[in-house]
Amino acid sequence: MSKEINTIGVLTSGGDAPGMNAAIRAVVREAITKGRKVKGIKRGYAGLLDGDIEDMDLFSVSDIIGRGGTILQTARCLEFVEEEYQIKGANICKEHGIDGLVVIGGDGSFKGAQKLAAHGINTIGIPGTIDLDIACTEYTIGFDTAVNTAMEAIDKVRDTSTSHDRCSIIEVMGRGAGYIALWCAIANGAEDVLLPERYDYDEQILINHLIEGQKLGRHNHIIVNAEGIGHSASMAKRIEAATGVETRATILGHMQRGGSPTCKDRVYASTMGALAVDLLCEGKTNRVVGYRHGEFVDFDIDEALAMTKDLDEYQVELTRSLASTS
Ligand code: ADP
Ligand code: F6P
Repeated sequence: MSKEINTIGVLTSGGDAPGMNAAIRAVVREAITKGRKVKGIKRGYAGLLDGDIEDMDLFSVSDIIGRGGTILQTARCLEFVEEEYQIKGANICKEHGIDGLVVIGGDGSFKGAQKLAAHGINTIGIPGTIDLDIACTEYTIGFDTAVNTAMEAIDKVRDTSTSHDRCSIIEVMGRGAGYIALWCAIANGAEDVLLPERYDYDEQILINHLIEGQKLGRHNHIIVNAEGIGHSASMAKRIEAATGVETRATILGHMQRGGSPTCKDRVYASTMGALAVDLLCEGKTNRVVGYRHGEFVDFDIDEALAMTKDLDEYQVELTRSLASTS
């Protein structure tokens, strides 16, 4: 059991995600309502090491719930993997009176939180990444907005693809994980999807599928490709050469990380932000908030980081069965 928490720090780390602002707002408002002070740490662990820390009050987070990005900004701080810098970070927290810290980010950010906890700072992680690749939780902040952004973009590409009788390879983000690709494949009714977790390098299947579609009179053909596979431009050239069907590659890129968060991202991020503060106030540390089986829950960070998860095989199968027209 940790000692009473008086001052809670909050930072965002790793790639930004829509909904992070809703989580920051909830942390600040829940903590102040519970009589704690709040300090915002800018630019993740990089800002922590620079002592880039400011007091936050109820007004600091006004009008941010609907804004994408993160008002605290974020960074990737490579040196923080070294113990020397983790000790420095913990000491800077102590100098600023920060005895509880909420870290909003992905698995990498949780490892930083775990190290700070080992050096005496009470930490709680909140899953924030568009990739949905955190094993202990079925929800991560930003995925819902990102996947809706990607879905709308793919609908638009399909319109122009149809007008030109083209095949389109559309690359979506996700780092090594295929969650955005899987969801878009189902939501956009993609003819094919390439998932890093299932990829077998067999382009002939794509080529055969495209030729079959042409014979059936299709005027478009959407292939959703996950960033973890990549090479969309060279793939498009090979498919065009093999089929004679004009093929274009579109990489959606960072547009998927921006924009106003969906209702789900605002509500879940707000809930997780408040829950993280409640856990700190109950004396909990080295834990991560998650959403599982319809409930908001929390896990020990060490246990959370040791968990694994995979794409839902039934949904993977649906990407094939529901796209079938023959
Ligand atoms: P994410 O949090 O989205 O997984 P990263 O993997 O880029 O993103 O990690 C974000 C930051 O977390 C890193 O830039 C680094 O500052 C910190 N971090 C990552 N791995 C570790 C580690 N093993 N120990 C301490 N800090 C880490
Ligand atoms: O983790 C979020 C993410 O957007 C991944 O999907 C992607 O691989 C990566 O970050 C891109 O990182 P950067 O913003 O550094 O280009």
